[in-house]
Amino acid sequence: MNQPRVFGTPLSPSAIKVMLLGSGELGKEVIISLQRLGIEVIAVDRYPNAPGHQVAHRAHVIDMTDGAALAALIALEQPALVVPEIEAIATATLAELEQTGKITCVPTARAALLTMNREGIRRLAAEDLGVATSPYRFAASLAELDAACAEIGFPCIVKPVMSSSGKGQSKLDGPADVAAAWEHAASAGRVDAGRVIVEGFIDFDYEITLLTVRARGADGDVQTHYCEPIGHVQVAGDYVESWQPHPMQPAALARARAIAGLVTDNLGGLGVFGVELFVKADMVWFSEVSPRPHDTGMVTMATQVQSQFELHAKAILGLPVDVALASPGASAVIYGQHEAAGIAFEGVAEALRVPGTDLRLFGKPASFARRRMGVMLARAHDVQTARARAKQAAALVRPVKA
Ligand SMILES: Nc1ncnc2c1ncn2[C@@H]1O[C@H](COP(=O)(O)OP(=O)(O)O)[C@@H](O)[C@H]1O
Ligand SMILES: [Mg+2]
Repeated sequence: MNQPRVFGTPLSPSAIKVMLLGSGELGKEVIISLQRLGIEVIAVDRYPNAPGHQVAHRAHVIDMTDGAALAALIALEQPALVVPEIEAIATATLAELEQTGKITCVPTARAALLTMNREGIRRLAAEDLGVATSPYRFAASLAELDAACAEIGFPCIVKPVMSSSGKGQSKLDGPADVAAAWEHAASAGRVDAGRVIVEGFIDFDYEITLLTVRARGADGDVQTHYCEPIGHVQVAGDYVESWQPHPMQPAALARARAIAGLVTDNLGGLGVFGVELFVKADMVWFSEVSPRPHDTGMVTMATQVQSQFELHAKAILGLPVDVALASPGASAVIYGQHEAAGIAFEGVAEALRVPGTDLRLFGKPASFARRRMGVMLARAHDVQTARARAKQAAALVRPVKA
């Protein structure tokens, strides 16, 4: 969509309509930012009462991997912008609709298509753009995986080509681990369980998310903005803690920005990208990219003048953005701990008595042990203090069965 010349009134003929495909905790915050600009928001997810459904003008429940169902809903609602919030959607349908001028997909349908499959984005980055990545091979059977692991060497990491949040991933220390890794990938992968990537293990000093924003400047040209690096800790491939800014040597930061610039320029469009990078001394490896706000970027609700959600909302509407840091800060994930519907949370007031803290409870209707149900945010004069505050406060919030 080009920069809208006027902003309308929701639920009237002048409304600018935006459809979110996926309405989890990240989508919910994007929706809130859009609502503040008077955008009419349509939230879509695969289950009722998803977090974003609860704050949108209209909510729909469909199987977003079903291309026909997706196309029918888009035809019904006629949104000016379609905003994928998750990877598991019928991206080929989005590409067709975009090609025929029926929709504008954020940032582009091609970006959604390439990043939903590890093979697409890895081959683009390493083979077309010449960006440094871990060494890798693809395999479609146990025999192929055996051969691929032998070529890459150990330790290595095996991941389904379609999966997120660490699902189906294994670290392999030797040939004896290959069969179990194949089984694990096959049981947990999404859509196409039959294909995996093997990556050489990178012994990094730290990993970061570099939030990169493509937004229109005053002359209408697209400009690239880089947020301060976000450091994070992953447990079993899922983020548990993040902080901003993560200190970096100037050479490593310059390399990180150059990689993020190359990759996001190629994917095109407008909006926030979460570029995941591994860093060791001055060396930087590209890992993967989300063409949308990133889970580790929830920390920006505490740290930035404009959170990644506000940046995404503004950028996709063609508006100017400000990526300035307001304060060092941290986030700590609150897991459900129980398998139950409609859980409750004790200790919220005690948690918020920890100085500099704030809380988001996502309102997910059902909980399970490792489901992310909320996030604690903290600000402080330095990142160490902010991390300690976020973890201390997060531990005070106790999910209980209602
Ligand atoms: N090649 C690798 N070397 C070392 N660690 C890795 C490698 N690939 C993944 N990891 C670790 O696993 C985490 C999850 O992997 P990632 O590819 O980002 O999967 P997901 O798409 O599920 O987020 C990374 O953030 C990193 O901590
Ligand atoms: Mg990742």
